[in-house]
Amino acid sequence: MPIISNAVPASFDRLARTYDAEFTHSAIAQWLRARVWQRLDALFSPGMRVLEIGCGTGEDALHLAQRGVEVVATDASLVMLAVAAQKILAAGLTATFHHFDLNDPQNWKLDSIFDGVYSNFGPLNCTHHWKPLADFLEQKTTAQAYLAFGVMGRFCLWETLWHGFHLDWRTATRRWSGKSTAQVHDGNPFTVYYPSSRQLAQAFAPVFSPVRKTGLGVFLPPSDIFPVIETRPTLMNLLMNLESRLAPPVLADHYWLELQKI
Ligand SMILES: C[S@@+](CC[C@H](N)C(=O)[O-])C[C@H]1O[C@@H](n2cnc3c(N)ncnc32)[C@H](O)[C@@H]1O
Repeated sequence: MPIISNAVPASFDRLARTYDAEFTHSAIAQWLRARVWQRLDALFSPGMRVLEIGCGTGEDALHLAQRGVEVVATDASLVMLAVAAQKILAAGLTATFHHFDLNDPQNWKLDSIFDGVYSNFGPLNCTHHWKPLADFLEQKTTAQAYLAFGVMGRFCLWETLWHGFHLDWRTATRRWSGKSTAQVHDGNPFTVYYPSSRQLAQAFAPVFSPVRKTGLGVFLPPSDIFPVIETRPTLMNLLMNLESRLAPPVLADHYWLELQKI
């Protein structure tokens, strides 16, 4: 089946309506997001202006706006942006929203200069234009700005073991070549890229330098396996406990990479 370049937003438009029910509100996703918030809160203080790439339904934007951070949230999916904007409005808060497609570098236009940039749970996996993004962010960030990215890694132990055990070799090994084809909610297929943290850091060098790297979802599984664990609370608590003590950036579903402008 052909891979259509604009299939990404169309697929995420469909996903937007069910994303919170299926993912955001699940116990494991909430737990993982709370860990991300610890890092966002450490990096971004009230009064700072930050750019979010691939904001989805706006959970992180809402969290930061509640803390008094000025958020400019972007996404390639207009439906995701609409859901996020509605959420911020309903909370009586403000944020700015822009349509921004990572696969369309010629049209990247944003007026502001940002004190920091973040992207959580995989938007950077939907492109391979990391170097143009780095060049763009160099122009759009203040001195010593932090970038913080949650990115799907190349090797996910849970995914390989679980799907390998179920003899689904295609899913078990889908990340290993660095890219795979994904389909969301019967939408058109699109390409997902799995840069290693080193590859991503190289794209942002020499202007941005890595300062922190952890795993997100080492002991806890990827979202398609959440129900298996969430229906076993004792096991889930054990895995959360392990994850909070040890979260190496390898073999995880996502890694969390922080870089600083130097
Ligand atoms: C897995 S969701 C993550 C959403 C949100 N960051 C979160 O933490 O829940 C991935 C997001 O990336 C967005 N996205 C996908 N392709 C994109 C692209 N080419 N440019 C910008 N955003 C994109 C999707 O629309 C979707 O909102």
